[in-house]
Amino acid sequence: MAAHSLSGMRPHVVAQVAVSLDGRTSGFDIDVARFYALATLWQEDVTLVGADTILAQEAAVRSAPHPGPRPEGPLLAVVDSRARVREWEGLRHLGYWSDVLALYADQTPARPPDSTISELVTGYDRVDLVETLDVLGSRGARVVRVDSGGVLLGALLDLGLVDELALLVHPVVVGTGQRWSDGHRLDLQPAGTEVFEGGVVWLRYCLSP
Ligand SMILES: NC(=O)c1ccc[n+]([C@@H]2O[C@H](COP(=O)([O-])OP(=O)(O)OC[C@H]3O[C@@H](n4cnc5c(N)ncnc54)[C@H](OP(=O)(O)O)[C@@H]3O)[C@@H](O)[C@H]2O)c1
Repeated sequence: MAAHSLSGMRPHVVAQVAVSLDGRTSGFDIDVARFYALATLWQEDVTLVGADTILAQEAAVRSAPHPGPRPEGPLLAVVDSRARVREWEGLRHLGYWSDVLALYADQTPARPPDSTISELVTGYDRVDLVETLDVLGSRGARVVRVDSGGVLLGALLDLGLVDELALLVHPVVVGTGQRWSDGHRLDLQPAGTEVFEGGVVWLRYCLSP
């Protein structure tokens, strides 16, 4: 169930993460086709992504084909309180999202005066994630899918903002690197398991209120 907030209905927030057996989110070959095939099941209205996730993809975004915005696609909303993301136009034209939205804070460095990127400003020195979700909900978003290597996801989990979690577990132990969770206690209700070719396992959970 999506949580009620002061400004109306907060969207249902789901996070899907590709992980190694030891919970790392990078340092191994992700079954990308499977990841996105599964992710489309939620039909999200908004894909919520951290700046570091985008920065890790910027070179690929630059060199990818740019067929243009996909009107029926979700909105890409990027948490970027330090204004580090540059490839906004490339992201908008990747052919997956309908548009892009920069999530900034009051103290975010000045943007180029000719920037045409839509922005939502919340929080003082960091994006206020609660207010962001409330605003997205008030604009009609019903489902938000979080794409994070663990940092943004951790912040959302700490705030109790995640309703559903899906781990796509890959049969590899990486040994070092960022984990999807930093180890805080989470009570999860199992919501389904599927095993795919190659030993990739999809684990779905609902989070306790
Ligand atoms: N395996 C997977 O499924 C998967 C998915 C995505 C990414 N990745 C990998 O993971 C890495 C990047 O992910 P990451 O975990 O380092 O970072 P991330 O998930 O992109 O999160 C970083 C973002 O979170 C924001 N943030 C963190 N705490 C916050 C808080 N309390 N309030 C508001 N905003 C907050 C940061 O804000 P600022 O703007 O202030 O810095 C930054 O924009 C890359 O290597 C990428 O390839 C893996």
